[in-house]
Amino acid sequence: MMSRSSLLTAWLAFGFVCHCALHHVPAGAAAVTLSTASRWIVDEGGNRVKLTCVNWPSHLEPMLAEGLNKRPIGAIAADVAAMGFNCVRLTWPTFMVTNASYSSLTVEQSFQRLNLTDSLAGIRANNPDVVDMKLIDAFKSLVSSLGDNNLMVILDNHVSKPGWCCSPSDGNGFFGDGNFEPDVWVDGLTRMATMFAGVPNVVGMSLRNELRGPRQNSNDWYKYMQRGAEAVHAANPRVLVILSGLSFDNDLAFLASRQVTLSFARKAAFEVHWYSFSNGQEWASGNPNEVCARIGASVSRRALYLLDQGWPVILSEFGVDNRGGNVNDNRYYGCAAAVAADLDLDWALWTLQGSYYLREGVLDLDEVYGVLDRAWSGPRNATALRRVQALQRPLRGPGYAEAAPYEVLFHPATGLCVVRPSLTRPLELGPCGETEAWTYAQQDGRLTLRDSPMLCLHAEGAGRSVRLGLPCPDDRSHWRLVSDSKLHIAANASSSSGSGTGMLCLDVGADGRSVVTNPCRCLSGDSSCDPESQWFKLVTSSRSVAAREMLLAQLPIKLQSTKIRSL
Ligand SMILES: *[C@@H]1O[C@H](CO)[C@@H](O)[C@H](O)[C@H]1NC(C)=O
Ligand SMILES: *[C@@H]1O[C@H](CO)[C@@H](O)[C@H](O)[C@H]1NC(C)=O
Ligand SMILES: *[C@@H]1O[C@H](CO)[C@@H](O)[C@H](O)[C@H]1NC(C)=O
Ligand SMILES: *[C@@H]1O[C@H](CO)[C@@H](O)[C@H](O)[C@H]1NC(C)=O
Repeated sequence: MMSRSSLLTAWLAFGFVCHCALHHVPAGAAAVTLSTASRWIVDEGGNRVKLTCVNWPSHLEPMLAEGLNKRPIGAIAADVAAMGFNCVRLTWPTFMVTNASYSSLTVEQSFQRLNLTDSLAGIRANNPDVVDMKLIDAFKSLVSSLGDNNLMVILDNHVSKPGWCCSPSDGNGFFGDGNFEPDVWVDGLTRMATMFAGVPNVVGMSLRNELRGPRQNSNDWYKYMQRGAEAVHAANPRVLVILSGLSFDNDLAFLASRQVTLSFARKAAFEVHWYSFSNGQEWASGNPNEVCARIGASVSRRALYLLDQGWPVILSEFGVDNRGGNVNDNRYYGCAAAVAADLDLDWALWTLQGSYYLREGVLDLDEVYGVLDRAWSGPRNATALRRVQALQRPLRGPGYAEAAPYEVLFHPATGLCVVRPSLTRPLELGPCGETEAWTYAQQDGRLTLRDSPMLCLHAEGAGRSVRLGLPCPDDRSHWRLVSDSKLHIAANASSSSGSGTGMLCLDVGADGRSVVTNPCRCLSGDSSCDPESQWFKLVTSSRSVAAREMLLAQLPIKLQSTKIRSL
């Protein structure tokens, strides 16, 4: 096993950490006051703040943020920041602040009550300060440590009665369920909003996680969510109020016909959850392009359409089994990441925790969706983490209009982008922070670099690297977005290349780095085939690409000769 320090060195070597440090976000950035400007979340100056959060649960039976038996709070918080997340969606159960049989407990009492002897010993060793604290004080101390690490916090009311979430019949699903008395809920929200009103890094409160179950209905949704939103805003007008939908937060479609009515403006956003299993095993059992198109359209119809209506929609839970062996998850991820990049969504990854003190009766349960390993000592899977980190950079929105909009050629399965390491080397996958600015002309199918528009991307044959050059446009430089997912970028092979004819799709070479073309895979029909390596997304960005422009300026390209075949 890799040691923790060598893992950190590896992240640094890959340059992730420095890409995360946004140049115009000063120290103390977590103390920002957020509001909304149409679909964007912005700071006091009106500049976009892209929420790139990770979930950290504190709502299970012990009511203490997971992992404090494994590492000191400050070390975990520092890792969250080092991994490039800028915020934590921190969950809490209502009863922790409304019900004396829970709220009166210290950390030690809470763990003793559940016989969590080993966990308690771990907490004593790693976080001795919290052992004798009341649960809410331990919670506050964690929020404060996140602030010390420049991390924003969204307080998420996850359940009423502490425990694993979410089943339709657990009494926590909808207003009126056994544990979900609306007045108690509003009281809990008010208490939390009041308690954290003076805490600068608490920037948002989400009203209730994953409403669901037989009682759910939109009339009660308006009645109670509006009441909850008003209560939070009255107690703490600084925080962004975040509203989740019905059916496990998969459904905000009802808002299309009836807007939410709030007394305040520019302080409310919506959240949506999207997992592979939100659609059962559809990803694994269908053709991935067809499933991606169908489910993508459905998520748009159910939630993301609100962006066009001028509301921020935070993808506040998404994630995959990080062991890489879950076909349903793998196919879903490429599609969901393409959507998240395309719309430049705010998001919160499920999830940080490598383990739970106690989940569904199991001690020290391993969380395979966790970014951290079971020991909380480093990333569970550095490859999976890197993919998610690609979604951390804001691409557009207020304050990110430094350049005329251009396209980024994003490869969701790796989280890398098509870059040109130097003017003489072939194109390859590299960090999206060093991306090329592409232009795609739909009419004649040209894919060109914005700054050398006369050179087109060419398919050179199966298994061969693509190249930038002349002449164009011709068949081999006429790119179409084929397949229902529109994630395959295809051109027709040269009949003279000797390597076959027919459609070739952008792909990743056998070295895992070069950008090649290969016969297009499983465009339709076939459900046994995985196309993810051929999935590329043209994503619009208006971020400055100053570094690349400098490189190009240093080496002026002469285009007089049509003999230039390759750069
Ligand atoms: C407080 O919690 C206990 C134990 O779960 C429960 O029986 C009781 O109904 C709760 N009281 C309120 C007011 O929620
Ligand atoms: C804790 O252990 C005691 C003694 O073995 C037992 O009586 C009690 O039921 C246990 N409580 C829980 C929550 O497991
Ligand atoms: C890490 O994740 C990648 C991407 O899903 C996967 O291919 C790989 O098998 C995973 N590795 C481990 C050790 O889990
Ligand atoms: C390749 O050529 C065929 C036949 O002319 C055409 O139907 C198809 O659209 C072309 N594909 C691409 C990607 O240009």
